[in-house]
Amino acid sequence: MSVLVLGGAGYIGSHAVYQLVEQGEEVVVIDSLETGHREAIHPKATFYEGDIREIDFLRSVFKKETIDAVIHFAANSLVGESVEKPLKYFDNNVYGTQVLLQAMVEADVKHIIFSSTAATYGEPESVPITETMPTNPTSPYGETKLIMEKLMKWTEQAHDVKFVSLRYFNVAGAKETSEIGEDHRPESHLVPIILQTALGQRSHITIFGDDYDTEDGTCIRDYVHVEDLVQAHLLALDYLRKGGKSNIFNLGSNEGFSVKEMIETAREVTGKEIPAQIGKRRAGDPSVLIASSDKAKSVLGWNPTRTSVKQIIQDAWNWHSSHPDGYGKEG
Ligand code: UFG
Repeated sequence: MSVLVLGGAGYIGSHAVYQLVEQGEEVVVIDSLETGHREAIHPKATFYEGDIREIDFLRSVFKKETIDAVIHFAANSLVGESVEKPLKYFDNNVYGTQVLLQAMVEADVKHIIFSSTAATYGEPESVPITETMPTNPTSPYGETKLIMEKLMKWTEQAHDVKFVSLRYFNVAGAKETSEIGEDHRPESHLVPIILQTALGQRSHITIFGDDYDTEDGTCIRDYVHVEDLVQAHLLALDYLRKGGKSNIFNLGSNEGFSVKEMIETAREVTGKEIPAQIGKRRAGDPSVLIASSDKAKSVLGWNPTRTSVKQIIQDAWNWHSSHPDGYGKEG
C-alpha cells in the first residue's frame, strides 16, 4: 500500500515525503510544479506531474497505484495574494479538494491528512488558541482552508472518508542534513527573508510595524520546526490506520516570539549583522498567534524535539547558506 502525497514537491510536502520514505512507506507524489520544485522530490517516490483539479488525471493515478491514505499539501498559501485573487484560491484550494475527495470516494480510499492553518481562527479572542475556539478567518486563504475542512466533514458523513486536519502555526526550519529546505518564489516568510538578508541577498529586512500591543511592539508568532510538524502527519497516519476518528489538531510550540526576537536570534546564530528597518504594518496581520498543541500531544502522542527558535533558525541557516539560490536559479 502507498501513501499519496499531494504537493510533495513543496516545502512541507517534500519534508513529509522524506520522512515517509525513511519510515519505509511506499510514497506516490502528485505535484503541478507550479510552486514546488522537482529537485525537492525524494528519488524513491513515484512522481506524477499534474493538477488535482483534473479528475481524469487523479482517477488514472488512483487506478495505477494502490493507495490507502492521502496527505494533502497541494494548495496556494499566501495570505496577501489571496486577498488580491480570492477566486484563484477558491478554485485551486476548494475546488481542487472537492475533485480530490470525489476521486478518493470513487477509489474507496478512506484516510486523508490535511494541511490546515492558524489562519482559520482569524484574530483570536485569547491565546493560547485551542481547537474549540471560534473560527473567523480574515483572509480568503484562511476561509478556503476552513471550507476544505467542512468539505471533508460532510464527505465523511456520506462516504466514511476519515480525516485529520492539522492547523499549522508558523512553520520554519529545514531538514537536518540540508538536502531539502524552504524556497518560495517570491519569498514572503519571515525566517527565509531574515536569512537572505544575512547572506547579503537583501540590503535589509523590513519589520512590518512596531506599534502592536506587544512588549517590543512587533508581532508575536508561534514557530514550529518543519521536521516536528511532519512528524505529526506520520502520527496522524498511524492514528487513522488504527481506526481513529476524524479530528482537528493545532500544531505549534505553545510559545510566542516577536519579529525583533527572531531577528536577534538569527544574528546570534549566523554571526551576521542583519540590518532591519521599521516599516508599515502588513494588512491582515494579527498581533499575537500562539497555539495550544496539548491535544496533538495527548491524542497523537506528538513530541516535538527540534522546535526551539534557535534550532529552527540554525537548520534553516544551514540550508540557506549551503543553497544560496535555493533549488537553483530556474527553480
Ligand atoms: N514579517 C516582517 N517582515 C517580513 C516578513 C514577515 O515583519 O519581511 C512579520 C509578519 O508581519 C508577521 C511575522 O513576521 O508578523 C511572520 O510572518 P510570515 O509571513 O512569516 O508568517 P505569517 O504569520 O503571516 O503566516 C503564517 C503562514 C501562513 C499562514 C499564517 C496563519 O506563513 O501560510 O501563518 O496565520 F496562513
